Amino acid sequence: MQFKHSMIALLGLATAAFAQAQAWPAKPVALVVPFAAGGPTDVVARTLAASMTKSLGQTVLVENKLGAGGNVAAAYVAKAPADGYTFFIHHNGMATSTALYRKLNYDAMKDFEFVSQAVEVPMTLLARKDFPANNFQEMVSYIRANKDKINLATAGLGAVSQLCGMMFQRAIGVQLTEVPFQGTAPAMNALLGGQVDVMCDQTTQTVPQIKAGTVKLYGVTTKSRVKVLPNAPTLHEQGLKDFEVVVWHGIYAPKGTPRPIIDRMNQAVRAALKDPDVVKRMDDLGAEIVEDRTNTPDALQAHLKSEIDKWGPVIRAGGKFAD
Ligand code: MLT
Repeated sequence: MQFKHSMIALLGLATAAFAQAQAWPAKPVALVVPFAAGGPTDVVARTLAASMTKSLGQTVLVENKLGAGGNVAAAYVAKAPADGYTFFIHHNGMATSTALYRKLNYDAMKDFEFVSQAVEVPMTLLARKDFPANNFQEMVSYIRANKDKINLATAGLGAVSQLCGMMFQRAIGVQLTEVPFQGTAPAMNALLGGQVDVMCDQTTQTVPQIKAGTVKLYGVTTKSRVKVLPNAPTLHEQGLKDFEVVVWHGIYAPKGTPRPIIDRMNQAVRAALKDPDVVKRMDDLGAEIVEDRTNTPDALQAHLKSEIDKWGPVIRAGGKFAD
């Protein structure tokens, strides 16, 4: 009898989840961005959201939740209702934060459902327009000679601008004063205004500034040159052997979000990544759409795990942590 009642209860739950998924989305869907509006993550999120709004028939609303290098947003999404109306886009920070923070209010591997990978983005090493160095070698010499006076802008511990900046400082043997912002959009404003000196940032924000000549570019962080900036040498080819930072984005949902909703969201992300408007915008900004076969929940889960394993030792060697 007990068994029969449990079976009926289980069936009831399954039917409710199915009905919920069938009706989804019945209202706007939030896509939480962990950094400031107008910055690189936000640009990717809004480009995808515009396309997904068309395919889902409901608005995908980008919500910027700032703080702690992306970790305020991650903790918020981990605790959000698992009803299919909250999703999260994050980058390498989802993996690096587990090593950077002694205590996090969420578990990257356990507290989320995995939806899809999305795009990969190169980074650029920049300085303010009037920085007194005209090429990478001059930049390194100037920084070494003036290290006490130079500020490095970042988006905080957990941000890729901080990770790239940390690797750059380590590679050239200096420790600069880091100035954290709540995203590289405000950091870029400070660079343009001359309040900070140097910054690593993603092409999704920097290409327009580089093309307009409002910042100085010293190299790209990928192993090969970037199509949209063909004249920019890599840091690797300029002497920082094997220097490589590629920013990858994943889309997540709170743990327990019904699988049929995850699958439908996955289809919407994949459709967006094939939308010619998205393809063109990403192309213009140097971002590469991740191969279709790797845009599955399982592939994202495996990728996150491998990135946690990859960055943990690099970060621990850097010795920079937050509570
Ligand atoms: C942003 O969107 O502001 C950046 O992704 C922050 C960073 O990680 O550097």
